[in-house]
Amino acid sequence: MQRWQGLDDVPGDWGSSVVTVGVFDGVHRGHQRIVSGAAGAGADLGLPVVVITFDPHPAEVIHPGSHPPLLCTTRRRARLLAGLGAEAVCVLPFTHEFSQLGPDEFVRAVLMDRLHARRVVVGENFRFGHRAAGDVALLAELGEKYDFAAVGVPVVIGSRVVERAAAAVRTIRAAVPGASASGYENGEAVARAERVVLAVPFAGLAGFLGRARDALAGKLVIDVVVPLSVRDGFVALAAADGAASAGELIQQALPAARVVSAFKNLPAQRLGDLAAPLEGDVVLCGNDDAARAEVAALVGLLPGLRAVDAGGIANARYLEATTALLLNLNRRYGARASIAILGLPEP
Ligand SMILES: NC(=O)c1ccc[n+]([C@@H]2O[C@H](COP(=O)([O-])OP(=O)(O)OC[C@H]3O[C@@H](n4cnc5c(N)ncnc54)[C@H](OP(=O)(O)O)[C@@H]3O)[C@@H](O)[C@H]2O)c1
Repeated sequence: MQRWQGLDDVPGDWGSSVVTVGVFDGVHRGHQRIVSGAAGAGADLGLPVVVITFDPHPAEVIHPGSHPPLLCTTRRRARLLAGLGAEAVCVLPFTHEFSQLGPDEFVRAVLMDRLHARRVVVGENFRFGHRAAGDVALLAELGEKYDFAAVGVPVVIGSRVVERAAAAVRTIRAAVPGASASGYENGEAVARAERVVLAVPFAGLAGFLGRARDALAGKLVIDVVVPLSVRDGFVALAAADGAASAGELIQQALPAARVVSAFKNLPAQRLGDLAAPLEGDVVLCGNDDAARAEVAALVGLLPGLRAVDAGGIANARYLEATTALLLNLNRRYGARASIAILGLPEP
């Protein structure tokens, strides 16, 4: 492992890298996941992994005395990071001058000039640049400008059959080399995730909820399910087992989970077509304000999509009815329609 005190120590002939950035004090489980994700990306791309960390702690410069004492020395941090697969650890002196860099300057100075980042792996709460103006969404935008991909949210794929989950992970990694994705049987996948996207056909929903109810308690459940029936080519909303919508049924079945209905009006093929830009609104509803805000932040990571907060879960019935309309329109026009709502105030 190489240890650099500042970017001037990076060898002049250093090629492209996978870079991860953070204070990583204590190198706890969350940090380990990020650095292991970077190591996976490095292995996929055949590139070395560089960890950028800071000394002193940025908070000490920005709000002196505001952060708790560090858990480990920079030397020990570097050793732990090397154990997770980092080829080099670069300790950046966090100065007042450094804290003034805007997000674009930060990316150029820290990620591009010396390290030629091709993939940047960070935690989803990662902030960078003056006044923490940069977030993962901006990092992804700057990645398009400087030709690197930003990875901020690790994905766990669940399936009833573990081999199918593994196949889905291979498909993801073929489309996005170095993506932080892993596959498990549904129960194990739910146990490993704090946020679960429930994307099963309505016919399989009750069985799944029965099996996963306890494991989903306390988690954020993102429901995309739409109960539909098709007769003579006409798509209609199907009865949702006594509830007014699948979203409401799921929240009733999982009283301890934070359910947010979302993405119901967006064709999966559109999300899966990485070459085509996304556009339109993701309307979301759920009874927990913080959960809706969390899903809105995830939507914000998808360039071109806007999250529209529709309030309580009772609105799920209208989202689901809109999907039936969209599918009938798709059939009529051979399209992949989604929705955009006009006239809302700017956030
Ligand atoms: N496709 C879209 O564009 C779209 C858009 C908006 C909303 N939705 C909603 O999203 C949900 C999934 O849609 P989809 O098109 O992805 O459907 P799908 O391909 O038929 O099903 C998705 C996965 O669910 C699992 N599954 C199938 N039957 C199951 C059962 N009885 N119990 C548990 N798991 C089962 C299967 O995975 P394993 O075999 O690997 O377990 C399957 O690959 C649906 O409720 C749909 O209404 C879809």
